[in-house]
Amino acid sequence: MIKLNTNENPYPPSPRVLEALARVADETLRLYPDPEASALRARAATVYGVPAEWILAGNGSDELIALVLRAAIDPGDRVAFPVPTYSLYEVLVATQGGEAVMVPFGEDFALPAALADARARVTFLCNPNSPSGTLVPRGEVEALARSVAGILVVDEAYVDFARETALPLLGRHDNLIILRTFSKSFSLAGLRVGLAFGHPELLAGLRTVKDSYNLGRPAQAAAEAALADLPAMDANVVRIRVTRARLVHELERLGFRVPPSEANFVLARRPGIDLGALARTLAGRNILVRHFPTPRVRDALRITVGTDAEIDALLAALRPLVP
Ligand SMILES: Cc1ncc(COP(=O)(O)O)c(C=O)c1O
Repeated sequence: MIKLNTNENPYPPSPRVLEALARVADETLRLYPDPEASALRARAATVYGVPAEWILAGNGSDELIALVLRAAIDPGDRVAFPVPTYSLYEVLVATQGGEAVMVPFGEDFALPAALADARARVTFLCNPNSPSGTLVPRGEVEALARSVAGILVVDEAYVDFARETALPLLGRHDNLIILRTFSKSFSLAGLRVGLAFGHPELLAGLRTVKDSYNLGRPAQAAAEAALADLPAMDANVVRIRVTRARLVHELERLGFRVPPSEANFVLARRPGIDLGALARTLAGRNILVRHFPTPRVRDALRITVGTDAEIDALLAALRPLVP
């Protein structure tokens, strides 16, 4: 099976992660984990240049998204985000009884001006966005943080593959929360670790609705070890960016339109043609890519950047099938 549908990293994590996991397994599994993930947060503080009190660790960034909504909204409150985007926002807003205000992205996935006027308690911006892969520049993120009525959550799950992050905006906007994950660039999707960066008062609100032991010992130790070996992550990111450029080039030669991707996936479009059948044919050949049946992107496939061999196999399967 060639799995290019959920944006996992095709390369293994740093060897230091495996050493840390072996140590935990040997020594401390019988003990409860640190509810504050203090060692991990201290390491993250050093790496990202943000005080540890401005960092909260979650069981994947999915948990952090849920904590924001649990802490910040009451039934009926508005939660805004540009669409199409990460589908979990809509699901979790509904779970929490909120009202999702979905504002369509502009042409070429430009930030829609109406987002700032949505009068939402919480606004999500997935940046780089999924499924488009496109990045809203930091200046526009800052303007959005200034103009939204409530909290702005910038979900940077894919930012290590991009050219810039919103982290430098943190100290300037008390309503800003930035989310990161270890599932993509750090190759640790199976362990479930994410980080939230934000003003300590905002994070205090999230703590009130967090399970005490939300992160197990292996996850904490592995994420800390991953942060201690950034060159290993960077090397994987470089390989993925090189493969991404080749994939985009080949897809364009096949007639696809591909918005500029700053993530570890690309959106391959055939304007006006529903690509659901193509995705199913590829799945029949054991190549999984993502098709969304929603109007705006049903003419596209979202393809994770795998290894060069995986991408070669995808392209070989795709060539005779392109509508
Ligand atoms: C935009 C976005 N945010 C968050 C996540 C979830 O990340 P995690 O594995 O840290 O829960 C994903 C996973 O695909 C994602 O695409």
